[in-house]
Amino acid sequence: MKADLLYEGKAKKVYQAAKQLGKLVLSYKDDATAFNGEKRASFAGKGHLNNEISSRIFEYLRERGIDSHFIEQLNETEQLVNKTEIIPLEVVVRNVAAGSITRRLGIEEKTNLYPPIVELYYKKDELGDPLINDEHAILLCNITPVELQEIKTKALQINNHLSELFTGLGVILADFKLEFGKIKDDIVLSDEISPDTCRLWDKETMNKLDKDVFRQGTGNIIEVYEEILHRLEAIV
Ligand code: TMP
Ligand code: ASP
Repeated sequence: MKADLLYEGKAKKVYQAAKQLGKLVLSYKDDATAFNGEKRASFAGKGHLNNEISSRIFEYLRERGIDSHFIEQLNETEQLVNKTEIIPLEVVVRNVAAGSITRRLGIEEKTNLYPPIVELYYKKDELGDPLINDEHAILLCNITPVELQEIKTKALQINNHLSELFTGLGVILADFKLEFGKIKDDIVLSDEISPDTCRLWDKETMNKLDKDVFRQGTGNIIEVYEEILHRLEAIV
């Protein structure tokens, strides 16, 4: 199914799909990193869990009219996706304060943020993915003002769908990160949506069910990712 390795990232490898120009195979790794690669570890089964979770979420979004690069899950750790022209932007949507916004702006963790806050980060490891504004994004990311608006509108639509999904699972979606790409002139959701890229809190216990257990060293990453997958399996 896969041919040449094109790129290796921190959590996934990207291969050209065999005999299918315009398609790629994403292979989810067991590696976890935090703080721009400063903290690293590997957890057997993490790649499989994120592939299962992200595939289910992209299918859920597709059924609700949100196009993404996702085509199909191929096996335990791989999925087939459409090749996109990467937009080097990380789009974060925040419903509840956690992580960098609490440190940057002195907002207490768990403060409700309604209406949700959309933030843009320039995807560039050497710079540590800095927070940028709209004009910076237009300058640096090869997108027009109209395309940026479309990205923000899509991010908020996705937030509505994901918030509904996770509420049904007894989980608070505190925040998450999205990436987008272009296929010709269309902007489509890309990358992954998983506990690596979301903050997910159990509604009853407020326990963290996401990569923060690894970032903060407070729990077992495999156990909490399994918990998210089991809850998702019950409905999608
Ligand atoms: P932050 O609070 O550290 O800015 O993170 C906001 C959300 O984005 C959180 O759900 C984790 C996710 N995220 C990533 O997926 N990749 C990253 O490189 C960073 C910094 C955050
Ligand atoms: N900073 C990312 C995170 O915490 C991972 C990394 O860049 O190594 O999600």
